[in-house]
Amino acid sequence: MITIISGTDRANSNTLKIAKIAQKLLEDKGEKTQMIDLASLPPNLFRPENYGSKAPEFATYQKMILETDGILNVVPEYNGSYPGAIKYFIDLLKFPESLHRKPAGFIGLAAGIFAGVRAVEHLEMVYSYREANLFGQRVFIPKVREKISADGKEISDKPIYDMMKSMLENFAKFVKSLS
Ligand SMILES: Cc1cc2nc3c(=O)[nH]c(=O)nc-3n(C[C@H](O)[C@H](O)[C@H](O)COP(=O)(O)O)c2cc1C
Repeated sequence: MITIISGTDRANSNTLKIAKIAQKLLEDKGEKTQMIDLASLPPNLFRPENYGSKAPEFATYQKMILETDGILNVVPEYNGSYPGAIKYFIDLLKFPESLHRKPAGFIGLAAGIFAGVRAVEHLEMVYSYREANLFGQRVFIPKVREKISADGKEISDKPIYDMMKSMLENFAKFVKSLS
């Protein structure tokens, strides 16, 4: 099972569109997947009390992460880094067992030309700290608004689509090799 984290809580995000395209590509190759859309987290998770005793609703997400074979992070660039929502989600996860040795892949996207490189590389530092197994083949999508079809279901840029397909096939093999 590969868990895809759509790494922002912004409504109607391009991140979720790319995450769903990635999910379909993985499933077309026979992989089992599940999605964690940070925009769908119950609002009571975003309260300071959760650093102490977690709201019961978090148990579902904690279990998904503990039991998954690998995590695919789809992450947009916000202010030259990744969104706070994904850091907060990671901060709620049990330490160290949630991410320790967990295979982790990364797809970055941005409205601008730097394509989420900074978002991915900053997030990789967090996963490295948590001693995850980072997958080296990454995908970066610049000017993302021009690269998604009008219905939001396809990547209209063929080279980027091909890169994503190749990355996901190899990530699935990477995950299996470590399971
Ligand atoms: C709070 C915020 C900060 C952003 N900062 C950047 C940025 O630093 N660089 C950039 O290229 N785009 C930036 N963007 C634009 C996003 O990259 C753009 O919205 C893109 O579609 C991916 O984000 P989304 O998943 O929210 O749609 C920012 C967007 C938001 C909401």
